[in-house]
Amino acid sequence: MELAGTIRQARKSISAARAAGKRIGLVPTMGALHAGHISLIEEATGRCDYVVVSIFVNPTQFGPSEDFDKYPRDVESDMNICRQSGANLIFSPSASQMYQKENITWVNVDKLTENLCGRFRPGHFRGVTTVCTKLFNIVQPDIAFFGQKDAQQAIVIKRMVADLNMPLQIVVCPTVREPDGLAVSSRNKYLSPEERKDALLLSQSFAECERLVKAGERNCKLLIGSMRKIIAQSSEAQIEYISIVDTETLADIDVIEGEALVALAVKIGSTRLIDNIIISYQPRSARRTRNEI
Ligand code: PAJ
Repeated sequence: MELAGTIRQARKSISAARAAGKRIGLVPTMGALHAGHISLIEEATGRCDYVVVSIFVNPTQFGPSEDFDKYPRDVESDMNICRQSGANLIFSPSASQMYQKENITWVNVDKLTENLCGRFRPGHFRGVTTVCTKLFNIVQPDIAFFGQKDAQQAIVIKRMVADLNMPLQIVVCPTVREPDGLAVSSRNKYLSPEERKDALLLSQSFAECERLVKAGERNCKLLIGSMRKIIAQSSEAQIEYISIVDTETLADIDVIEGEALVALAVKIGSTRLIDNIIISYQPRSARRTRNEI
């Protein structure tokens, strides 16, 4: 496995792989790699011949009062994980490699970035789409891999690639969870043991939502209300949003018909956690019994 700290080095190694006819995969990350990232790298090694993992804590996607400075960084562990997962190249540039002193060119996706996290993190998605465009231009992958854990990000990136005719495919991989249901995240490291317990209320609230939908409930206000109740059991939990939205437009919906994305952002103490599930409501008439199939 190679390590490239500069764009020039990365381009050199990747063009050699491309010239050898290899299918190039890219897994963009901000490091502090965990089981969620590993699942993306493994999916990439399964589908591609040469896998690049980028590790870059991208300053332009953090707000001024967010955790850019204290975002976990662990280069040694990241290198081991990449090697063990079968990556071929780590691209780990400095901020000055990626951005000029003042960045004045941005990529912006409208509408899809207005709801959910976009409402609470102004400028965040502009930073994500800009850095991903840069990474796509540097690596020129055939396929780039993203996690369903950041559902809005995956949808925004897919739309950007389609709208700007970028010549790559986006693959979205399922959310990896701890055995007790908590979605794996680099930010889980910030949680105290007490907060870690409270964080389980998030996946419990999804389970309740799923149970209600299965029982025939489709009213989003009611579903969100029951999720709120569960999360409010923790005095440390501050709900930023719990939303049920259309899986394509990300617009709020009132009544579930077919598929919907249930997404939330909750602060446990000072740690902001996000998670989501996709639910689908099937009217009774469409539900077939075993005998009917
Ligand atoms: P980061 O938070 O490091 O996540 C990198 C990729 O790993 C994202 O596509 C994310 O959705 C995926 N991921 C994180 N936790 C996951 C989990 N539990 N299961 C499955 N996939 C998971 O997302 C970013 O970095 C940045 O915004 C980035 C795209 C790199 C741009 O800077």
